[in-house]
Amino acid sequence: MQAILTGVLLALSLKVCGIAPLNLRIVGGEDAEAGTWPWQVSLHRNNFPFCGGSLITKDLILTAAHCFQGPGDLRVNLLVYLGRDTQQNSNPNEVSRTVSRIIVHPDYNDSPNNNDVCLLQLNMAVDFTDFITPVCLASSASSFPAGTQTWVTGWGTRLQEVQVPVVSNMRCSEQSSRSEVGLQDEGPCTIDVVDTTSLTHHNFLEHYAYRRPVILTGTTDNTKFRFLCSKTNLLGLFGDRRIRLSTANTHSYRKVDVSFQEYVDYLLKPQSADVLGSDTLYFFGDNNLTEWSPLLDHYQPPPFRLPGTSTAFSFGLAGPGTGVPFHWHGPGFSEVLYGRKRWFLYPPDQKPHFHPNRTTLSWLEETFPLLPPEEAPLQCTLRPGEVLFFPDRWWHATLNLDTSVFISTFLG
Ligand SMILES: *[C@@H]1O[C@H](CO)[C@@H](O)[C@H](O)[C@H]1NC(C)=O
Ligand SMILES: *[C@@H]1O[C@H](CO)[C@@H](O)[C@H](O)[C@H]1NC(C)=O
Repeated sequence: MQAILTGVLLALSLKVCGIAPLNLRIVGGEDAEAGTWPWQVSLHRNNFPFCGGSLITKDLILTAAHCFQGPGDLRVNLLVYLGRDTQQNSNPNEVSRTVSRIIVHPDYNDSPNNNDVCLLQLNMAVDFTDFITPVCLASSASSFPAGTQTWVTGWGTRLQEVQVPVVSNMRCSEQSSRSEVGLQDEGPCTIDVVDTTSLTHHNFLEHYAYRRPVILTGTTDNTKFRFLCSKTNLLGLFGDRRIRLSTANTHSYRKVDVSFQEYVDYLLKPQSADVLGSDTLYFFGDNNLTEWSPLLDHYQPPPFRLPGTSTAFSFGLAGPGTGVPFHWHGPGFSEVLYGRKRWFLYPPDQKPHFHPNRTTLSWLEETFPLLPPEEAPLQCTLRPGEVLFFPDRWWHATLNLDTSVFISTFLG
C-alpha cells in the first residue's frame, strides 16, 4: 500500500510539468494569451530583457549558454521573471527571482554553438500556479523526427508563439551556413534626408552639426571616383598591395595584414550570423595614404566643414552581413560607392545594449527586435549618392546589406 501510494504521489508530482491550464489552443495569432506557456521565463539584466528560458523545477531554469558568456559575475543585476505576459509592465500573476548559481554546459562552444544549454538556480523556489508551471524535459530515449510539429515561444514586447516543424540536422546545417536573415530588410529611414542645394552651411551648422545626424543628397559628383572603385579597377591598382584588416568588434582589437587580392579572393564573403565580431576580419580604415592616394585623390568629400577641424579619409570594402558594431568617435561623413549600408545611431547619452564582441548582424537579429519603442535607434539604409553626417560621440553600428565599397570623412 505504502509503495503504491508513493507511486501515485510520484506520478502526480511528475504530472505537474507540461500542464498549462490556461492554454486553450485556439490562438492562431502571434501574441500568446496570458498563461498559455506557464514555464516561459524572461531574463533581464539591468532591467533589460536579453534572453528567455524555461522553468523545469521549483528553482531551476533551463536557458541557453550563449546568454551567459562574458567576463565578471553574470549574476549581478540579473533578474528572472516568471508568469510574465508583456515586457511593457508587470502583471499580478508574475514573480521575479534573483539567481544564486549559473551552470553553463562545460562543453559549450560558441562556434558552431554545440551544447548551448545552461541552468540557472533561483535564489528561492517558486510556488506553482496557473501562470507558473514547469515544462517536461525530454527523456534520453525521446526522438523528434523531422516534420514533428512543435511550438516555439519567445519574447517580443509580448510573449510570441509560432508553430514550426522540426527540421533534420542536415537541412539545418545547410541553411545556417547561408545566413541571409536581417539582410533583406532595409528598415525605415528615421533620419532627416536633405538635398544639399537647399541647405546652407549656416543651416547645417545650426540644425545638424552639433545636434543630430542628417543624410545629404546631391552633394558632390563622385562619378570618377566611383568608376575607380569598381572591382576590376581596384584589383588592377591595388591587388598586390598589403592592406591592414581589423576585427569587427567594438574596440577593433586585432589587426591582420594581407594582400588586397587575397582579401578580395578569400575574405570578402558573406558574414555568418553566429561568428563573433572579434573573429571577423574587415577592411576599413588603416589605409596607407601614400599608397592609396591614386584613388583617394579623386574623392570629392561633402562640402560642409566644422570650424576648427581637418579631414581624414577611411576607405573600405566588405561583404554582405559585415559591419562594425556599436562604437563612437568624432564627427564625420560616410557614404557608399557600391552596395547598401544600414546605419543605427544613438545620441551620446543613450548607450545602446550590445556585446562588444558580437556582430551588428547578431545584434540586429537578437537584441533589436526586443527593443521597446523608446529605445529604438535612429536608422536608415544608405545608397550610393547619399551621404550620412554623424555628430561627435554619437553611438553607431553599421551593417552592409550587400558587398559594399565605402568611404568616411572624419572631422578631427
Ligand atoms: C572580446 O574579444 C577579445 C579578443 O578576442 C577578448 O580579449 C575580450 O575579453 C572579449 N571581450 C568580452 C567582453 O568578451
Ligand atoms: C606606405 O606605403 C609606402 C609605399 O609603399 C611605404 O614606403 C610606407 O612605409 C608605408 N607606410 C606605412 C605606415 O606602412
